[in-house]
Amino acid sequence: MSSRLDLIAIDGPSGSGKSTTAKRTAERLGWSYLDTGAMYRATALALHRAGVELAETAQVKTILDQININQEGTSIFLDGENVSDAIRTMEINQMVTPVSADAQVREAMVRQQQRLGQRGRWVVDGRDIGTVVFPEAVSKIFLVASLRVRSERRFKELSDKGILTTLQEVAEDLERRDLADRTRAISPLRKAKDALEIDTSDRAVSEVVDLIVSHYEHCRTLP
Ligand code: DC
Repeated sequence: MSSRLDLIAIDGPSGSGKSTTAKRTAERLGWSYLDTGAMYRATALALHRAGVELAETAQVKTILDQININQEGTSIFLDGENVSDAIRTMEINQMVTPVSADAQVREAMVRQQQRLGQRGRWVVDGRDIGTVVFPEAVSKIFLVASLRVRSERRFKELSDKGILTTLQEVAEDLERRDLADRTRAISPLRKAKDALEIDTSDRAVSEVVDLIVSHYEHCRTLP
């Protein structure tokens, strides 16, 4: 498997359970976990704080060249500041869609992700991991879940953080973002043709992790 990268790529729409299962899978295997959505969110936060619009391409480039996004465990740092909570507000949810559809932003993020992942032993979650960032990953997973289940998960996540919203508002936000992610021109959300699709609606996290790990074990034996 010399041309393949010892890595598990997990893609799927918002709320399909990617980060929870990716984190647990990484723990189970003793690997690192990379949350690429958090990188787009941190970039959206940096642009927002700097008051830079996407149309101001030269300033966007300057910000992209200057900012430092790091992940330690499950915490995200923007220029040394822990922004794990600041990137998960409804405001950033709205802003991240156009930011993640921008060609210049994607190019910078994908480059950084490829640099990080090249040594292997990563579980990486996102929208374009199996199709664009790591098409050579040993194992690819595409997670799905019903809109009802996805909305309830996100609603609970936000409520636990004390963020006031309604289930209806969360469902609308998810649908809007998924449509944008699926229909954007660059690297749209798509299932790789060699990915295993898993519906997480009625499955416990441990069951999904079992499926992912056994799929990986199977894939690594393939020529
Ligand atoms: O997974 P998330 O909700 O934290 O992702 C935030 C946004 O970033 C989401 O609207 C889709 C986008 N994204 C992307 O375009 N490509 C990725 N690899 C990861 C996330």
